[in-house]
Amino acid sequence: MASPQLAPEVSTFYTHVYDEDARLTSSADGRLELLRTQELLRRFLPQAPARVLDVGGGTGVHARWLVGDGYAVDLVDPVVRHVEQARRVCAAALGDARQLDAGDGAYDVVTLLGPLYHLPDRDDRLRALREAARVVRPGGLVAAAAINRYASLFEHTALAHLHTPRLRDSIADILTTATYDGRRGFTVSYFHRAEELAAELRTAGLRDVQVFGVEGPSWSLLKAVEHATGAPPDDTLVQSALTAARLAEPYPELLAASSHLLAVGHTPG
Ligand SMILES: C[S@@+](CC[C@H](N)C(=O)[O-])C[C@H]1O[C@@H](n2cnc3c(N)ncnc32)[C@H](O)[C@@H]1O
Repeated sequence: MASPQLAPEVSTFYTHVYDEDARLTSSADGRLELLRTQELLRRFLPQAPARVLDVGGGTGVHARWLVGDGYAVDLVDPVVRHVEQARRVCAAALGDARQLDAGDGAYDVVTLLGPLYHLPDRDDRLRALREAARVVRPGGLVAAAAINRYASLFEHTALAHLHTPRLRDSIADILTTATYDGRRGFTVSYFHRAEELAAELRTAGLRDVQVFGVEGPSWSLLKAVEHATGAPPDDTLVQSALTAARLAEPYPELLAASSHLLAVGHTPG
């Protein structure tokens, strides 16, 4: 089978436009995403030491704390710049989620915290999830993140952008098509609804699938305060947002309010 090609817009975005290494540490909502991803994953990870493959692991921001927790982490990412940065943290190689080099059952855990965002075609997303399921041992864990369908609506409302026709039309387009073509700002992307993400994991053969809202309902408030004051929000506001994310967890109707979704599932066995 021919190797899948990364969309050139995605490669250009992460190579020349955006510093992914700072995304989860330089803003309050990024730090909230990191904290909540950690706390949700730690609920499901097998006890260390265990073998983790971080697919689309970027510059190794998650690999760093996973290694710190005692896991043996390998990372693959299709962007050369990311792989070079990730090598400071763990073994890292160029690779695409849709065609992994790892052997069947080689890992206890596969994380896909990014690739699904950038695969607008459902067949590509299923291929990535099936590859993750293939390289995990029977009974192993697959964790996959997605950007929420409604994230841009919340973000651009909080930043008071929606009075401009260009942004209003762009957000309306994302809401109806679930995709963004990468014209400006962000790059080519796909935006999931929670039930759709769960269905994709099940279609890929994963069991006991659960979906969590990562940031909870208050992340866009952090963004708005940071934007308006030019400074990080007070720690009490960040703690409130974190508490809100935890309080929201039992209520599936609040899944739509998070910026990111995290789905977990296990391979049969
Ligand atoms: C928003 S970043 C997330 C990075 C990191 N996993 C995190 O959560 O902070 C999205 C990542 O997905 C990677 N990516 C995009 N398309 C991919 C594909 N087809 N296969 C694997 N990774 C991909 C990008 O290179 C980028 O590193």
